Amino acid sequence: MKHFYTGLFAVLAIGLLGASSLTPPDPSELMKKKTEHAQSILKALALADLPLVKKEAEAIEKLTVEAGFANTSEKYADYGREFLRIVRELIKEAENKNMAGSYYQFTRMTSVCFSCHEHLRTK
Ligand code: HEC
Repeated sequence: MKHFYTGLFAVLAIGLLGASSLTPPDPSELMKKKTEHAQSILKALALADLPLVKKEAEAIEKLTVEAGFANTSEKYADYGREFLRIVRELIKEAENKNMAGSYYQFTRMTSVCFSCHEHLRTK
C-alpha cells in the first residue's frame, strides 16, 4: 500500500507542476480551489475517509458545473465533460464505501486534469 500512496502523491505533484507552467498571468481562483479540493481528496483517501472524499468531490463537481464549458472549443468541452463524468463516478464510489473504486476514479480524475492542461499548452 505504501507504494500506492507514493504513486498517488507523485501523480498529483506532477499535475501541479504541469499546471504551474501554463501561461495565464492571473491565477484562476477556480483552479486554485479545484486543486485544494483534489489535494484534500488525496489525503482523505490515504486516511480511508470516504465521507470526506465524497464531500470534496462534490465541491469539485459544483465548481466545474458553475464554470461551464459553453464558450470553449469542442475539444476543451470534451475534456470538461469527461472530467465531470469521472468526478461523479468518484462521488458514487465514495458513497458506496468502495475504497478500490475511489482510488481508481481519483487517478482517472487527475489524469484528465493533465490531459486538459496538456491540450491547452499544445494548442
Ligand atoms: C477541462 C479543462 C481542465 C480541467 C479538467 C482541469 N483544468 Fe486546471 N486549468 C484549465 C485552464 C483553462 C487553466 C488556465 C486558465 C485558468 O487559470 O483559468 C488551468 C489552470 C490550472 C492551474 C493554474 C492556475 C493558476 O494559478 O493560474 C492549476 C493549479 C490547475 N489548473 C489545477 C487543476 C487540477 C488540480 C485539476 C483536476 C482536479 C484541473 N486543473 C483540471 C483547465 C482545466
